Amino acid sequence: MEKKNLDWANLGFGYMTTEYRYVSNYKNGKWDDGAIVTDSDITLNECAAVFQYAQTIFEGLKAYTTENGEIVCFRPDLNAQRMKDSSERIEMPVFPEERFIDAVEQVVKANAAWVPPFGSGATLYIRPYMMGTNSVIGVKPAEEYQFRIFVTPVGPYFKGGAKPLTIRVSDFDRAAPHGTGHIKAGLNYAMSLHPIVDAHKKGYDENMYLDPASRSFVEETGGANFIFITKDGKFVTPKSDSILPSITRRSLMVVAEKYLGLTVEHRQVKFSELDDFAECGLCGTAAVISPVGKIDDHGREICFPSGMEEMGPVTKKLYDTLTGIQMGEIEGPEGWVHKIM
Ligand code: PLP
Ligand code: COI
Repeated sequence: MEKKNLDWANLGFGYMTTEYRYVSNYKNGKWDDGAIVTDSDITLNECAAVFQYAQTIFEGLKAYTTENGEIVCFRPDLNAQRMKDSSERIEMPVFPEERFIDAVEQVVKANAAWVPPFGSGATLYIRPYMMGTNSVIGVKPAEEYQFRIFVTPVGPYFKGGAKPLTIRVSDFDRAAPHGTGHIKAGLNYAMSLHPIVDAHKKGYDENMYLDPASRSFVEETGGANFIFITKDGKFVTPKSDSILPSITRRSLMVVAEKYLGLTVEHRQVKFSELDDFAECGLCGTAAVISPVGKIDDHGREICFPSGMEEMGPVTKKLYDTLTGIQMGEIEGPEGWVHKIM
């Protein structure tokens, strides 16, 4: 298979239309067989549930080319499960978990020419999503749905690659109200658009959201969970019911403990503790691990000892081990690396 002739090393995190996508429709209480199709456009009625009440959810995972030329993805079963949780919370039918994995395999195989080569620094981002498609005008769930997956080759989420980020403490909340922060619903991301634009305008890379009730605990950013390293080398990551249960974060907790021998603390993190940490990072599928050098709290700067030039040493070890597992250079725990072809 001939790879596309792209400048893999200089890709940003953007969308590129590839030849194939997966589509399955839900009607009369059941999903159809699903198929790989070529049309990248969607035509829907003006009153479709997705347009009126934002009944839409999504997932994100990546495919990688390993050193020996296989194409793999990382823990797709957890994306399937999380999509099930998201579906249930906003009254959508569940796309069966085994079919989710099969659909990921089909769409990646069909687009194998777009999977970046090993060592190129790029990966194939896979975007499963689902929306209510029939017309709905009273506030109620749709009866018909479409599940789709497209793929697009991507580079680093944050410009500047591995340079530490500067973030600010946000006065806005990330997610829509009513306790939906733990699901990947489009509406949560819509709520974060204003804070992110405002942050960028003021020169920050991202927002740190605090818990809306007391504004005293660290939650997450618009697209990644937080990880911290204490001055005595412990791995600390916030526990909250209103943040997305990041698959990367859950994996890093295992990497930290089992591969690096660190003590792992998954607990509420007080904002006032930030001064005690040596390193800070954002973790997620898109963010991988992006180091944070500085946090601006309304004019007071919290500067991590790891500085603004490079990733802190423990963050670097976590990064190298996680990406080593994902790219097949380091043996991962059973079931983490899922071979596609
Ligand atoms: N938090 C938010 C709000 C996200 O959008 C994401 C990205 O999916 C994450 C965290 C990281 O989750 P994961 O590691 O499963 O990609
Ligand atoms: C992901 O990491 O997959 C996400 O959904 C985050 C988004 C900001 C791109």
